[in-house]
Amino acid sequence: MSSPETNPIARTVASTQSEMTEIILPNDANTLGNLLGGRLMHFIDLTGAMAAYRHARSHVVTAAMDHIDFIQPVHVGDLLILKSSVNRAFNTSLEVGVKVWVEHPQTGVLLHVASAYLVFVAIDDRGHRQKIPALLPETPNEIRRFADALRRREHREAEAARRKQERREQAGHNSSTAAQ
Ligand SMILES: CC(C)(COP(=O)(O)OP(=O)(O)OC[C@H]1O[C@@H](n2cnc3c(N)ncnc32)[C@H](O)[C@@H]1OP(=O)(O)O)[C@@H](O)C(=O)NCCC(=O)NCCS
Repeated sequence: MSSPETNPIARTVASTQSEMTEIILPNDANTLGNLLGGRLMHFIDLTGAMAAYRHARSHVVTAAMDHIDFIQPVHVGDLLILKSSVNRAFNTSLEVGVKVWVEHPQTGVLLHVASAYLVFVAIDDRGHRQKIPALLPETPNEIRRFADALRRREHREAEAARRKQERREQAGHNSSTAAQ
């Protein structure tokens, strides 16, 4: 899918910026008429994937979605606004930041609803992981997010190693108790 034209050495953050607006309908809501958390995560995943797709210009799969706080309830009839951009590109993976607001339909007031970081991995047409272009942060905010993304990647890697070690220890414990 990628070629020298579609896969240059580096891309800007601005070239990855993506936005989605949704009107919340009864089908998106729980019995109180509030947007379901899982539905919000779906919208976040989609908006994040758009920025990742614009950067990689190849298929992308979601590898991880970080901790999300649901700060405000969103009601049926509200407008949900989601914005995303790539924070940093690594080898085959990249981190995207997604920020979500609710717009009250009568007043136009905007409230911050949630923020999330997602990691996507670029995949070629044969299903193999694919190297992606570098990201060029330009503004002070983009440079700050670029640096923070590396710290989060290191934290994710440390957490993944810790969980792997826990699974190993649990498997060792299970096999020794089964042998008794
Ligand atoms: C994501 C996936 C491709 C990673 O494959 P893998 O063989 O584990 O890959 P590796 O361990 O070699 O890592 C490849 C890259 O992914 C990153 N990665 C893998 N798992 C990750 C995780 N849980 N969190 C963050 N990054 C992760 C690695 O850091 C590495 O990045 P880099 O190439 O930029 O250095 C694979 O686990 C997968 O296909 N998962 C299912 C994805 C999916 O179906 N998502 C939901 C629907 S889209």
